[in-house]
Amino acid sequence: MHNLPSSVKIVEVGPRDGLQNETTPVSAADKVALIEMLSDAGLTYIESGSFVSPKWVPQMATSAEIFSTLHRDKNVTYAALTPNMRGFEAAMSVNADEVAIFGAASESFSQKNINCSIEESLERFIPIMQAAKSANIKVRGYVSCVLGCPYEGNIAPDQVAKVAEKLFIMGCYEVSLGDTIGVGTPAKVQNMIKAVATRVPIDKLAVHFHDTYGQALTNIYAALQMGVKVIDSAIAGLGGCPYAKGASGNVATEDVVYMLNGLDIKTSVDFEKLLKAGWYISEKLSKTPISKVSTAYLAQQTHIT
Ligand code: HMG
Ligand code: MG
Repeated sequence: MHNLPSSVKIVEVGPRDGLQNETTPVSAADKVALIEMLSDAGLTYIESGSFVSPKWVPQMATSAEIFSTLHRDKNVTYAALTPNMRGFEAAMSVNADEVAIFGAASESFSQKNINCSIEESLERFIPIMQAAKSANIKVRGYVSCVLGCPYEGNIAPDQVAKVAEKLFIMGCYEVSLGDTIGVGTPAKVQNMIKAVATRVPIDKLAVHFHDTYGQALTNIYAALQMGVKVIDSAIAGLGGCPYAKGASGNVATEDVVYMLNGLDIKTSVDFEKLLKAGWYISEKLSKTPISKVSTAYLAQQTHIT
């Protein structure tokens, strides 16, 4: 199809972004089982936890145990979110393959999420970048609130571009653009990406869309048309950010893969195994999958058997 990439890389963020906001406790063993099902389904990049304050995000307190016990597939990158040097050191002590630093395009969100201004956060990231470089560890960067902020409302595309550029110049090999509260629509997505692409090459950008307003798939399609080839998504459409009230889960990986398969865009994912991973974690959380695709297949299966 015109203007669409022939293949896409999926960054699976379910075990981190998905589970950080779930109120039902999930044991470390169940999280490990999920991560192993996701790698078995062919996902090659799995954000498996975060090394943040357990007082702020208690659901991620078992991240060290998870990284220490999971059986690793050599083709998979197991990444962790690290807000500061303490988090980076903790991630290194359990051999995370990569880390991600996370900033925001909104001052208020930065304060609520990581308790410092945008400028202060960038300063905190410098030692992480230096330590990561010496340890030969790649660093991914996030910018939150790229299409709107729960506290400030509209965010100017140029502001997003400035923060994204700072992360890129600092050494992030990829910058993921987060619609944290899922308010974007396709034209806004394209305007924002156009602004960012004047400062960061488009092949270094990823999109990270929450599906709060049901726009995520359409927005991803709009981003693909702009040349973006990396998509963040969460199994079963789980989660959200604890510091963005009302933010629902990321776009579901099942929905993304279904759409990409339909567009003949290659991924490394085995769709049936992916569905099973989604059903597994949904059962652990005692909820039906948030993914419509997954629910449709589940209904079909229940109907057949
Ligand atoms: P702070 O209070 O400014 O930092 O928090 P502090 O250095 O004063 O430390 C406060 C307490 O946290 C101390 O403990 C530290 O020891 C501890 P206390 O003395 O009170 O017992 N601490 C830590 N513990 C474990 N690991 C650490 C660590 N650092 C300090 N690394 C901090 C600053 C960043 C730590 C805090 O604000 C925090 O943890 N925030 C959580 C942020 C978070 O995880 N948010 C969700 C992820 S971001 C997201 O979901 C958006 C994204 O998906 C993209 C999108 O959708 O837009 C990425
Ligand atoms: Mg997120």
